[in-house]
Order: sequence, then structure tokens, then C-alpha cells
Amino acid sequence: MCGIVGYLGNRKAYPIIINGLKRLEYRGYDSAGLVVMEDDGFGLVKTKGKVSELEEKSKFLNNGSTLGVGHTRWATHGEPNDVNSHPHLSNDEQIVLVHNGIIENYDSLKTELIQKGFVFHSETDTEVLVNLIQYFKDKENLNLTEAVRYSLNEVVGAYAIAVMDKNDPDEIVVARLGSPLVIGIGDNEFFIASDASPFLEFTKEAFYLDDGEMATIRRDKDIDIRKIKDNLKVTHTVQELKINLEEIEKSGYEHFMLKEIYEQPKSIRDTMRGRLLVDEGIIKMAGIWDYQEKFLNAKRIIIVACGTSYHAGLIGEYLIEDLARIPVEVEYASEFRYRNPIINRKDVVIAISQSGETADTLAALKLAREKGAFIYGINNVVGSSIARITDAGSYTHAGPEIGVASTKAFTAQLTILSLIAIKLGKHNGNLSKERFNSLISELDNIPELVQKTLENTAEKVIEISEKYKNATNALYLGRGYNFPSALEGALKLKEISYIHAEGYPAAEMKHGPIALIDENMPVVIIAPRTGYYEKVVSNAMEIKARKGQIIAVVNTGDTELSKIADHVIEIPNSSEEFSPILAAIPLQLLSYYIAVKLGRNVDQPRNLAKSVTVE
Ligand code: AGP
Ligand code: GLU
Repeated sequence: MCGIVGYLGNRKAYPIIINGLKRLEYRGYDSAGLVVMEDDGFGLVKTKGKVSELEEKSKFLNNGSTLGVGHTRWATHGEPNDVNSHPHLSNDEQIVLVHNGIIENYDSLKTELIQKGFVFHSETDTEVLVNLIQYFKDKENLNLTEAVRYSLNEVVGAYAIAVMDKNDPDEIVVARLGSPLVIGIGDNEFFIASDASPFLEFTKEAFYLDDGEMATIRRDKDIDIRKIKDNLKVTHTVQELKINLEEIEKSGYEHFMLKEIYEQPKSIRDTMRGRLLVDEGIIKMAGIWDYQEKFLNAKRIIIVACGTSYHAGLIGEYLIEDLARIPVEVEYASEFRYRNPIINRKDVVIAISQSGETADTLAALKLAREKGAFIYGINNVVGSSIARITDAGSYTHAGPEIGVASTKAFTAQLTILSLIAIKLGKHNGNLSKERFNSLISELDNIPELVQKTLENTAEKVIEISEKYKNATNALYLGRGYNFPSALEGALKLKEISYIHAEGYPAAEMKHGPIALIDENMPVVIIAPRTGYYEKVVSNAMEIKARKGQIIAVVNTGDTELSKIADHVIEIPNSSEEFSPILAAIPLQLLSYYIAVKLGRNVDQPRNLAKSVTVE
């Protein structure tokens, strides 16, 4: 977890690195640092805090340098302070390195290096690696590339690294295992980065390094790519990236999160584009169609994911079981991977992940594959690690999501899961032609309903956020398809406003959480009209009787719950299957406006990072 950027070419490296770090800051923002190759050696600056602080402190650098690397950190080993910030120098100050990931055997390596006389200044695992490189370089009289390769063969863990040698102003060595790294190729210039955002205005030609590969990038030379293990030469085809610069800019919105919330009518449409063909009465999804035997003969589907993607998975369970009658289990990837799960060849394991880089989800998927399951990915980031190891998959095509709180990726995941459930339901005979047709035409209209929801709920939500911004706790309740909506609403509030919130199935209240209710407890109840709407109204009555403050998310024209609620947010009528997409909108807005009113850093909430590439 963190962002790496590097440049080697004819332009000035510094502005490319600083701007690149600003774009990568969503990946980690505990500290930032950079190094540029100056005439007399390394110009290195690093600091706790934001990239803007790094920029302040970088004034003394010689900005003419055309080679350098930068890093924005999400601390794993050692608190966020200046010393633990990257880049890290070797003891002889000849080698400098930035690292994304964790060196798991850092402790034993460190002990050995200390015995050999090395001294450590930081608490990081990273400083061990840079010194290991120095050790091999000196001991075996190796060049930088070889020393990096020797060292990485000693390392257990995950990494994307970029390394420079003080005596060689023409070279960067990079390597990857478990953390992403993309190499952009311009005209006699090279860019390296954790994602392509730092170099989109310079080149769209790029390739992704695969796990277990390293590359030596030299001025005016072809890139030399090798397998870390056996030094075998590898070639990669350069591809044309499809992302545009506008997609990664705020376009006038105050925060990426708000922009991404408002993009949802479009992003959901993009998710369905070319797949949902209402006029022809079909859902076209090559990933499913080419492997329909796997899905239709599946004994069960297991969904693995983390965080918001896990909540999407829970809604996926309702959708697939309801519409296709295939048993579904949903698991936190982090639990699944360590509990020796029973998986067999007739299982389909679906990993849902916006980033496609979440370490636990990736590991869960690898485990499922080892055990013989068919593995499928639902990812947003094209070319991501998960997308590359799965047997098949569907991209959500929601466009880059930069706000740490996931919004448009979530509704895109729900859209894909709806498409899969409806498609499977049709092919295995569970959905009649009429039901299939009515579901697809309704789904096709969801972007318009999302647009209406945005227009009709924002003002009300702003008013409610003012009233409850100082709450210290909140409860979110829902049933059926909207129980996971409650979990997701609570997660959104927690992560960006730092208000403690919990989601529960509405009927579970009486088994404990009801003890928390008093006149200070806001309770958000998600209750669109469903078969069990009346039950939810009864649950709401129980809360009202104990003076809880009810914020009800109901369908347009609701009368019953609206009568007892303190605040009513109306979302358009829809089938229950699609109601979580609509309910998500006011819940996202509510957390957003509360966080803004509390002065929180909405796009970069404390302690978090966008993609969690460590366990
Ligand atoms: C969402 O708002 C969170 N920031 C987080 O829970 C996220 O959904 C989780 O880390 C999973 O990420 P992924 O979808 O990229 O795998
Ligand atoms: N493990 C390293 C550290 O704590 C790198 C963390 C990162 O990926 O930012 O410094």
C-alpha cells in the first residue's frame, strides 16, 4: 500500500514526480518523499505528512535532474515520521530505494545484517532491503540489477520497488511481487508508477510488470525484463491505456468522493454498456457465457471480498440465490484464506474488488484456484492483479475511483451482480421470459432513477447532516436486500466522519443493540416497500418507543414509516432487487456531508488508503 512514481528521460523529473505523487496520494498519505539524481549525487527530501508538505520542503533541490523516484506511504512498519519515510538509503549512501509492500522476513534479515556491521536508522522493513542490496553488491561485486535480484531472492513478502545507484545517473531498477507497477514508455523516456495516473499526459503506451519480474530501465536503451527467480528474459507487449486525464481530475467538485457520487448515473450506464441489450432481450457477458457450464453446474458460488466490496457480495448473494437459485456463500477474504475452507472443483469463486489489488482477496482467490475452483473476478481497475489471475471476469467499467470511500464502484458492482444473477436465472430456467424482460428493462432504467435520487435527496440529506453531525454513534438498519445496505451505510459514515456506526438486520435489534437506543441515537432505517415492509415498521416502532431518532429511507409516497420517522428520505420505487443501488445514494451523501461539516479530509480519511495491498 503506497504510491510509487519514477521518471527517466529528457524532461525535468521533479515536477513529474511531485504531480505524480499528488495523483497517487489516495494510496497512502502518512508521509511522502522523493529523490532526484543531481550532479553531485542524490537530492533526497522526505517528510511526515502530505505531498504538499514535501513540495514545500523540496525548494532547495536542483530541479534540472532528469531521473528520480518518489513515494507516498501508508505505514506498516514504523510510525509515520520523517525517518521512516521513503526513500531509504543504504548505509554507504550509494543506493536509494522506494518500496510498496511488506518484507515479511525483515526481522531475521535485519539481525544478520546487524551482525555484519550494518546500522539501521528507521523501523521500516524497507531499510533492510536497501542494505541487503548493498551487502550483495559489495560482497559479490555485482551491478545494481544483479544485486537487486540476489536480494529479492532472499526476501519473503510483497513488494513493488524502484532502486537507484548514486554512481549511475542513467538507470532505475524496478521489481514487483504482489504490488502493482506499470511502466509508461514515451519518446526516449520512461515512467514507472503504481498506477498510470502520474504519466497520462505524457504517454498512453505502457505495460504492467508481472509478479516475480524485475526490469532494468536505462537511458536510450530497451528495457531489460527478467524473472527474479531465474533471470530468464521476458518480453511484454506495450498496450495503449484507455484512461483519460479528465477521469482522474476533480472537474470542479470539491472532493473526488462527491464527484464520484454524482457520476453514478453515468458509471452504472457504463457498466451495462454493451451487456444489457434490452431491445434484443439479451444480456451479453462473455465472461459468463464462455464458461456457462461452470456457472450452471456450480454446486455453489463463493464470493470473497473486503470492505465495501464485501457488502456488494452480500447483496450478490440475495440476487443470485433469488433469481438463479444457485447457493451462494459470502466471506471476508481475510477469513476465508486462513480457515482451511472446503472448496471443490464444482465451486465457482468470485472475487469482488474495486482495485483488484487487495492482498487478502488476491490470496483467497489463489487458494481457491489451488483447490481446483473456477475463479472469476469483478474488478474495476483494468489490468489489476486479480483481473490477471482469474479464469474469467467482468470489469465494472466505473472509471477511476479516487476517493478512499468507495461509492461508484459499489453501485457498479451491484449492477454487474444483477446482470450475472438475471443472466444465470434465465439460462437455468428459473426466470420466465416475462420476468427476465421486466427485470432487464427495469435495470436499464436504473441510471435515470439514480439521477432522480441524486436530485431529490441531496437537499434533505444536507439538512439531516447538519442536525446529526455531532452524534457520537449511529445505527443503520435494514432487512433482506437492504441489510447489507445498512452495513455499507454504517461503513461509509465511520470511515470518513469517524463517527462510530453499526449496521444490523432490523429484526436483530431486539437481541441486544436496542439497549443502545436513547434520544441521542440516530437510527437510519432503510425500508423500501417489500414483502416484509410491515415488519420493518414494527422494528421502527420499537425504536420510537425508546425515543430513538429515526431517519427513514423509504419509497416515494410512503405513508406508514414516514408517519413515525423524524426525517424521511424518499427514493424512487423499484423492485427490491435494485433497491440497494438507489438506497446507497442518500447514504453516501449523508456520510459525505457529515464529514464535510466536521471538517474531515473526505478523500483521504485518517489511517486509511485506497487499496490495501498488505494483509
Ligand atoms: C470502502 O469505502 C473502503 N475504503 C474499503 O472497505 C474497500 O472497499 C476495501 O478495502 C476493498 O477494496 P477493493 O474493493 O479495492 O478490494
Ligand atoms: N512496509 C513499508 C513501510 O512501512 C512500505 C509501506 C508502503 O507500502 O507504503 O514503510
